[in-house]
Amino acid sequence: MSKNNSGASQEAIEFHYDMPANFFALWLGKSMTYTAARYATPGMSLDEAQLNKINYHLDAAKVSKGGRMLDIGCGWGTLLKTAVTERGAASAHGLTLSPLQHAHISGLGIADVTSELKSYEVFEPEEKFTSIVSVGAFEHFVKPGSSRAERLDTYGALFERCACWMTPDAQFSLQTMAWGDANPAERDLIKIHDIFPESDLPEISEVMEAAHPHLEVVSMENRPEDYANTLAGWAEGLKANRAQAIEIVGEERYKFYLDSCKGGALLYRRRRFYLTRFVFRRRGR
Ligand SMILES: C[S@@+](CC[C@H](N)C(=O)[O-])C[C@H]1O[C@@H](n2cnc3c(N)ncnc32)[C@H](O)[C@@H]1O
Repeated sequence: MSKNNSGASQEAIEFHYDMPANFFALWLGKSMTYTAARYATPGMSLDEAQLNKINYHLDAAKVSKGGRMLDIGCGWGTLLKTAVTERGAASAHGLTLSPLQHAHISGLGIADVTSELKSYEVFEPEEKFTSIVSVGAFEHFVKPGSSRAERLDTYGALFERCACWMTPDAQFSLQTMAWGDANPAERDLIKIHDIFPESDLPEISEVMEAAHPHLEVVSMENRPEDYANTLAGWAEGLKANRAQAIEIVGEERYKFYLDSCKGGALLYRRRRFYLTRFVFRRRGR
């Protein structure tokens, strides 16, 4: 396991994610995914929009019967499980830096769904994948204060590795927050690393530039309103389950998550943050 990867360390990931799964289950909704949903219509519920997001990524990565899927930053394994049980994938393998998430996935007891407590930087698969997804992990891949050149280096190395792991027809569906319309002073005030320690967001241009030598862009969308609506839904869920949440994680942590959701929703509405989804395929197939 890599302790000194270019982005957030395992300890930093544990700070944010290693709360008991039953705490997150109180407010994330049925999907148990901790990333922006995709709202197809304004009236969609959080659960419907999360399901729509899951199906969007499985379609974009062309997950189908008999395929092999990799999920970089797999959370509690919802995409892995859905790929195998509903799309008929032969196997779905996830990478996470959270020991509790890794244990949760083993506990699902689905033979073809596996995970490793390992950074993508040191992962060495034995076989290639027909689909790759990564939803809400890219935000952890560089540390705050890294220069544009360092960021392009790190992101480029990820895309190069992914290109090597993909079969010729494979697709890679990537969802990530990105810096939006925020000037340097605002960025300092926002202090993203207080919420996600040792982490910083990419610029859209950095994702494009770093991917270019290795992967071709099939599609790209930017939907900050998706995250604003998701965060508002999570804040509602937290408030509705306040007593139980405090019983599990204590008042201070409850407040940390609630304030992060409320503050985040506002920043997305003001487009200080973007929410991007890229679909890639290999160059020179
Ligand atoms: C916000 S969660 C998203 C989880 C899931 N994809 C979802 O949609 O709910 C971020 C995930 O990225 C993982 N992660 C962060 N840095 C990583 C790295 N270097 N390699 C692999 N996984 C990483 C975390 O452990 C966590 O599972």
